[in-house]
Amino acid sequence: MSKPSILVARAIFPEVLQSLAQVFDVESNQTDEVWSPAELSRRLQGKAGALTTGSERIDAALLQANPQLRIVANMAVGFNNFDVPAMTAAGVLATNTPDVLTETTADFGFALLMATARRVTESEHYLRAGLWKKWSYDMFAGAEVHGSTIGIIGMGRIGQGIARRAAHGFGMNVMYHNRSRLSAELETECKARYVSKQELLQTADHVMLVVPYSAESHHTIGAAELAQMKPTATLVNIARGGIVDDAALAQALAARQIAAAGIDVFEGEPSVHPDLLKVPNVVLTPHIASATIQTRKAMAQLAADNLVAYLTRGQALTPLNSLPGSAA
Ligand code: 8YV
Repeated sequence: MSKPSILVARAIFPEVLQSLAQVFDVESNQTDEVWSPAELSRRLQGKAGALTTGSERIDAALLQANPQLRIVANMAVGFNNFDVPAMTAAGVLATNTPDVLTETTADFGFALLMATARRVTESEHYLRAGLWKKWSYDMFAGAEVHGSTIGIIGMGRIGQGIARRAAHGFGMNVMYHNRSRLSAELETECKARYVSKQELLQTADHVMLVVPYSAESHHTIGAAELAQMKPTATLVNIARGGIVDDAALAQALAARQIAAAGIDVFEGEPSVHPDLLKVPNVVLTPHIASATIQTRKAMAQLAADNLVAYLTRGQALTPLNSLPGSAA
C-alpha cells in the first residue's frame, strides 16, 4: 500500500523528519526557505497532511486549491496563522502544540522581565562600546523585581506559569486580567488576584502579556493603555506581534512614559518597527520564548505525532477543531 504524502513546510530536527519518513512520503524544506502563499499552495498539491510553523498561513484560498488536504499540524501553541472556521468547513483538522512549551516559555517571560527591569542589555551595550570608565551610584539603576507587583494579561497555561514563578520564586504580588476568571483553586495556587484591565495597568510595576492573538486582542496595549501605566513600570510581550501597537510603544519609551519594555514578538515580524530600534530602554529578542533544544524537539515531535495519529488512526492528540464523522 502506498504511503500518504505529507509536506513539512519548514526545516525541522532531522530525527523527527526521519520518523515521519517511516510512515509517510515526505516532501521537506530543510533549506528552510519561507515560501510565498502561492508556493506553499503549490507544494501542498496531492498532500494529505502538512506540518507548519507560525509563518505559514492556512486560509480558505489555500484550502480550496487543496481539497485533498486532511490535517495541518502547527508546530506552535499559537494558531493565528490558521483560519480554523475555514479549515473546519473544508473538513481539515487543525492541531497545535500545547503544554510542551509552557514552562520554557514562562522561563523566558521571566528572563525578559529581569533583563528589562534590571537594564541588562542596555548596560551590556554600554560596556561593549567602551563607555564604562567608573562606578557611579545610579549607573543603570533599574526597577525592583522581587516583592513588586506583576500584572499578567492572559492567564492561560503560560500566564499561570509566570504567576507561579512570580509568587513563589520572587515573592511578587500577582494580579491578572483574563477573558474568564480562574477557578478559586487555581487563583490560590498562583496566589493571583483577578482585576480589571484598568486596575492592572494603573497599579502593576511590571505588565506581562501572554494573551493569544485574535481580532479582539489586537492592540490590547496601545497609546491609551500605555498612558495609564506608571512611569516606572515595565512591559513585556511574549504573546504575539499585534497585541502591542509597536509604534505607540516606541513613542512611549522615547518619551519615558513607561520605564522600559522587553519584546519577543513584533507586528510584521521579522521586520521590527524602526523606532523600536532607536530607543535604548527596550530589550529586543527574535521570537525565541520557546527556543530550547528540548522544547523545540518536543514541539516538532508533537506536531509529527498528530500527523501520524490522525492519518493512520483517525484520532489526533491535540486537535483544535472537531470534524463531523471524525474521532478527533
Ligand atoms: C513558535 C510560538 O516558536 O508556540 C508558539 O505559539 O510563538 C513559538 O513557540 C513559533 O510560533 C514558531 O512556530
